[in-house]
Parts: sequence; structure tokens; C-alpha cells
Amino acid sequence: MTKPIIYITRKIPVELLKPYEDRYDFRMWPESETPVPREILRREAREADGVLCMLTEKIDEAFLSENAHLQIIANMAVGYDNINVEAANRKGIWVTNTPDVLTETTADLTFALLMATARRVTEASDYIKEDRWKNWSPFLLAGSDIHHKTIGIVGMGRIGKAVAKRATGFNMSILYHNRTRKHQAEKEVGVTYVPFETLLDESDYVISLVPLTKETKHLFNEAAFQKMKESAIFINVSRGGTMDEIALYEALQSGEIKAAGLDVFEEEPISSDHPLLKLDNTVCLPHIGSSSMKTRSQMITLCLDNIDAVLQGQQPKTPVRIE
Ligand code: NAP
Ligand code: GLV
Ligand code: GLV
Repeated sequence: MTKPIIYITRKIPVELLKPYEDRYDFRMWPESETPVPREILRREAREADGVLCMLTEKIDEAFLSENAHLQIIANMAVGYDNINVEAANRKGIWVTNTPDVLTETTADLTFALLMATARRVTEASDYIKEDRWKNWSPFLLAGSDIHHKTIGIVGMGRIGKAVAKRATGFNMSILYHNRTRKHQAEKEVGVTYVPFETLLDESDYVISLVPLTKETKHLFNEAAFQKMKESAIFINVSRGGTMDEIALYEALQSGEIKAAGLDVFEEEPISSDHPLLKLDNTVCLPHIGSSSMKTRSQMITLCLDNIDAVLQGQQPKTPVRIE
């Protein structure tokens, strides 16, 4: 009997496929660091029953129309702004993502980035590498405190809440903004709901953890950066599209805000000539929020479990539903 075909858009460790191998014919783009060219994805998808894709693949209406026979598209990410979910659902194609398994790992990275930006960790490390450390001095690379400051989390979802929990360990005041009130997080973690403008006004650290949608595109724009304190530090670990990068650059350069820590960018990847990398007051990371060995493996396994469920005629574990 021929086995259903699953196309995987990036080279992943074959050990992770072992538990499913007897049931499926796996095909894979052979490169781990380069995305599959669109033409090859289109050709491979034509024969496949399910696709395991990365956030680098644009799964748009045109692709879905050509491949309406697919049963499932399993995205190896919790964010799914790369997929036209509405079109997929309309065509009867399941879309799944990877919530929960990456929450704590991404919260760790968010806090690491906040701390690195506040205490100028990468700049300080470069300072030694560039042989500039000649003496201890009273205000050498003096940064901002984190403890007892106010953190404002925009997007109090799974990761937002996990970041808030970490902030309690630093005795921070925690404000949040979200489209719906999160009464449980308010009770459990002690976070305070405020309107978006109030959060911008009062926070020392403003954290973007909202998904990229029509509503959140350029949420952090010129007006938002103007509203923030001059001492504010902006951290974006959600999607680059939630911020207007040009406005951010202006705000950082003119001193309207103090610093930014970014794991995501409007167009990824960025290269070393990107204007934000020319500034001393930014810490830029190459979209590594969920990147621990364990979590990335769990994300792949969750994708495979979702594909397996759908191809066995069951509901996937983590479907993406469009309200
Ligand atoms: P989540 O649990 O869905 O949380 C997102 C929160 O944002 C929800 O509470 C949602 O409110 C809120 N929200 C949505 N639209 C909003 C709006 N217009 N205004 C205010 N709040 C809004 O998702 P998550 O698992 O925490 O992940 C959050 C995002 O992080 C993902 O979408 C992804 O883009 C990003 N991410 C990045 C990395 C990385 O590597 N850098 C890793 C993981 C995730 P409701 O509760 O009302 O829906
Ligand atoms: C990563 O960015 C994700 O959305 O999981
Ligand atoms: C610094 O190293 C100190 O001892 O305060």
C-alpha cells in the first residue's frame, strides 16, 4: 500500500521522524539553513498529503488554491501570520501551530533580551573584544536597572504571562494591555490591565508579545514611541511587523527612547548593513525566541503529531481557528 506523503520544508533530524516512519513517506528539502524555493515547494506539495512548513514559507491563497488537495499544513511556529488561515479553512485544509511547548523557552529569551539591552551586555562584551577595556571606572557602560521598575507587556497571552511571572522575581510592577482582560493572570501573577496609551506612558520596559495581524501591524509607530518615556526600553519578540522600524530607528537615534532589544524584524533576515545595527543602543538577535534544542525538537514533534492525527482522520492537537 502506498503511504501518504508528507513534505517537510527544511532539513530536520531524521530521528524525530522515526516514530512515524512506518506510516508515512517523508520528503524533505535537504538544506537546514536555506528555505525551500517557492517553485520546489509548489511542485512537492502537489504530490503531498500534508506539509510541515516553517515561518519562512508564505502559504498564501494562490498556493492553497493550487494545493487544495492538502489535508494539513503544520506550521513549526506558534505565530501563523505567514499563512492565510481563512483561505485554508475555506478549502478544508487544517492549519496547526505550536503553542505551549515554546512558551517558557520564548519567555526566557524575552527576559534575556530585556536584561541584555538594559545592562548593555553585548556592547560590554564587544568592548573587551575590541581591546578598549583599560581600567575600571565609575560609570563604565552604566545601564538601567531592571528590579523595581515597571514592565508593560502588550499581548498578555501564553508567553506574555510567562514573562510576567519572571518579572515578579525582579520585584517589577507589571502592567499589561490586551484586547481582552485576563482576569486569571491578574489574580495569579498580579498584573494590572491598562489602556495601551497608559502602558506606553508609564512603562520602563515595553514588550511586544502580540501576534501580527491587521490590527497590530505598526502598533508601535511614531506616536507610540513619542508617548514612551525617554528612559524607556522597547523589546520586540513577537513579529517585526508590529513595529514601524523606521519610526523606531528615529526614536532611538533622537533619544526619544533609550534602547531596543529586537528578536524580530519587518523583513527577515536583516544583514549587517541594516540601520538598526549601526546604533549602540540596540541589541539585535536573529529570531531565536524558541531556540533551545529541547523546544525546537518538541515543536517538530508537535507538528508531526498534528499531521499524524489529521491523516488518521482525527482532530489535530493544536488547530488554528479563525474566529
Ligand atoms: P497567544 O497566547 O495567542 O497570545 C497573544 C495575545 O495577544 C493574546 O492574549 C491576544 O488576546 C493578544 N492580542 C491579539 N491581538 C491583539 C490586539 N489587536 N491588541 C491587543 N492584544 C491582542 O500567543 P503566544 O503563544 O503568547 O505568542 C505570541 C506571539 O509571539 C506569537 O503570535 C508569535 O508571533 C510570537 N512568537 C515569537 C517567537 C520568537 O521566536 N521570537 C517565539 C514564539 C512566539 P486574546 O486573548 O484576546 O486572543
Ligand atoms: C516563532 O516566531 C513562533 O511564532 O513560534
Ligand atoms: C564591584 O565589583 C564591587 O565590589 O562593588
